[in-house]
Amino acid sequence: MKKTKIYLAFVLAVIFAGCSSDDNSAAAEKPVVINFEVSVSAGNGLRVIADNKSTGASGFEAYWQFTEGGEKVLDGPGPEYYLYDGPGEYQVTLTIEAPAKTYTDTKNITIDGEAGPDPQAKKALKEAATTFSVGMIVQANRLGGKHDEVISKDFNSITSEYEMKMNIMYPSEGNYNFDAADAIVDFAVSRGMDVHGHALIWHNATPSWVENFSGTDAEFEAMVEDYITTTVTRYKGKVRSWDVVNEAIEDGSNNLRNSVFKQKMGDDFIAKCFQFAKNADPDVLLFYNDYNLTFDSGKQNAMFAIVDDLKSQGLIDGVGAQMHISYNGPSSTQIQSVVDGTVSRDLLMHFSELDIRANPDNDLTTALTDSRAIEQQAKYKEVVEIYNAIPQDSKFALTVWGLRDNESWLLDFWGNPDWPLLYDSAFNTKKAHDGFLEGLE
Ligand code: G3I
Repeated sequence: MKKTKIYLAFVLAVIFAGCSSDDNSAAAEKPVVINFEVSVSAGNGLRVIADNKSTGASGFEAYWQFTEGGEKVLDGPGPEYYLYDGPGEYQVTLTIEAPAKTYTDTKNITIDGEAGPDPQAKKALKEAATTFSVGMIVQANRLGGKHDEVISKDFNSITSEYEMKMNIMYPSEGNYNFDAADAIVDFAVSRGMDVHGHALIWHNATPSWVENFSGTDAEFEAMVEDYITTTVTRYKGKVRSWDVVNEAIEDGSNNLRNSVFKQKMGDDFIAKCFQFAKNADPDVLLFYNDYNLTFDSGKQNAMFAIVDDLKSQGLIDGVGAQMHISYNGPSSTQIQSVVDGTVSRDLLMHFSELDIRANPDNDLTTALTDSRAIEQQAKYKEVVEIYNAIPQDSKFALTVWGLRDNESWLLDFWGNPDWPLLYDSAFNTKKAHDGFLEGLE
């Protein structure tokens, strides 16, 4: 096959050689810009792929030479492939025979037999997000195997889904249990990943002995200070940031939830907890974290009032907007509003728990349809574009709340089928993953 190609190329070259001349009488031709790319095949380190990227050359004969002065291979539609006999330094030349002029371009290529990068391989999220961290949640019982492989490839920050909360780390009075937290932090540190601590104080993860605390209010506050001090000190230099208080605002009223912390430490329990954390590690970044901060302007205003109070005391570094959203809302304008409020306060913005429901109205009964997957892809792209446009000084991380669709908390919480994440149950990337990357282009 190759011999025929060469003969044909040679014959064509001779014909065009006879026809081609420097005769300027030929009609002025469109400017030919000769250009090509050559790369080593991902499948074979001795094979190259040559792609003619020239412009203005359509209709003119062109041929390749993969060694200096070597055989002539006609350039057909699409890329050309050439297999070298062995490693070496080679010259690849493309020649275009235009009526009035012959154009050539030559590139040197080193063939060491090593396969090249797979051009089809998706770029890793953390490689594409060059100006902020891309986060994923983990559970201690999922730190090995395929989870480790996928998380290590795509992400450079992790958040514990539930094992760095008070009910797990402080299960009974005077009895800390950091086993799971240590495993998660060690996993991250060993891979050079950031750890976002979540969450020191949360009414939904308060151990029962704290809910039913029998001592005085002063003893309660001392216990909370001891817990925060012990925990933040333990992970000093390993945990980059903490959600000090999570979801302190009551839905609807937008007042402080009447949690045991508010009852026993007073309305300023939030500032007290931030102060305990800052005393323990002045270098750790401290966040307030909550949900529905985009479309619920009342809740957003209540959150910023808390944040302004903390900022006036020099206690807060950033805001976590959880971003548990849907393919059809909130709008980009609503999402932008919490970003603008955070940036205008010179604080870090963390999209801390992003998932995008594909089935909020339960109209999909058995499977994620292609059309809905495309809409979800567009929403991921929109969210990532908004985050990527944040001024650098306010960029921190965008954390996705779950790896595989089947592992999402949303399935139990809402009780209907959904596919809210970037990977399917077989660890394959979905269109949503493409959307995330498109948001970074
Ligand atoms: O893994 C254990 C299992 O071994 C045990 O048999 C089982 C029964 O006790 O519990 C399992 O752990 C559960 C864990 O999720 C893993 O599924 C915990 O009980 C359960 O409390 C935990 O729920 C987590 C929840 O926060 C409470 O901590 C969810 O995974 C987690 O997605 C959810 O995340 C919250 C954020 O922290 C704050 N924003 C809202 C978000 C969703 O509620």
